Amino acid sequence: MRRRERIFRKPLPKHVAIILDGNGRWAKRRGQPRTYGHRHGALNLRRIAFEAHDLGIEVLSVYAFSTENWKRPQEEIDFLMQLPHNLREDFKDRFKHDEIRVVFSGRRDRVGKKNKELMAELEEKTKDREGLIVNVCLDYGGRHEIIEAAKSLAMAVQEGTRKPQDIDEAAIEEELYTHPLPPVDLLIRTSGELRISNFLLWQSAYAEFYFTKVHWPAFSVRRFHKAILSYQKRDRKFGGLKRSDHQ
Ligand code: FPP
Repeated sequence: MRRRERIFRKPLPKHVAIILDGNGRWAKRRGQPRTYGHRHGALNLRRIAFEAHDLGIEVLSVYAFSTENWKRPQEEIDFLMQLPHNLREDFKDRFKHDEIRVVFSGRRDRVGKKNKELMAELEEKTKDREGLIVNVCLDYGGRHEIIEAAKSLAMAVQEGTRKPQDIDEAAIEEELYTHPLPPVDLLIRTSGELRISNFLLWQSAYAEFYFTKVHWPAFSVRRFHKAILSYQKRDRKFGGLKRSDHQ
């Protein structure tokens, strides 16, 4: 049976998150500048997002720029700061005919006025769509997100609108950029690195991890299917026991 058909026999992950790593190395191997790798990385995101949509996955989160990526050379930062614009262009045809929705997670105070406006525009224009949600994490850091949630809850306590004893998981989740998206089920990292790098820390508490040595621009639809099939073989227990182990 073909991979794609096999995928439909078991529950799909609702939320897939991807650390799009290896654009630079992929480009270097081809004797090209790093930005060439990012361009091909963006084109590959288009391919994988459309497949995720067609499969019926609910959310695809991607790590496009981390709070630490400001340390990169200015030329590369300038290129990556055009990602919201590229996203609008690359997804144009599908935005028109399809049901893809875009949201952004991350700080909005350092990405520039133009980006801020464009991001709000894309979110607003696509907000009523019912297909795949592409969550683009831009100037995103998991620790920063949690710090901001803590600050906001502390303020509410100070203002008397919340009691400390009422702060629970749901209260924190409501303050995260990703609210009300479901938790991450499958977290994919390309390019051989075996770490989470401050990505969706809270949301990935019970995620299944899938690592591959393939660089992001070369991570094909076939490889995406392979990652989903691997996820479907896992036994997710969320800290409990398997049903059959209960006696
Ligand atoms: C990591 O590769 C990748 C990034 C920091 C940026 C990823 C961004 C994209 C693929 C584009 C997303 C597109 C849109 C439209 C939102 P790296 O540069 O760290 O590669 P290296 O580890 O080989 O140096």
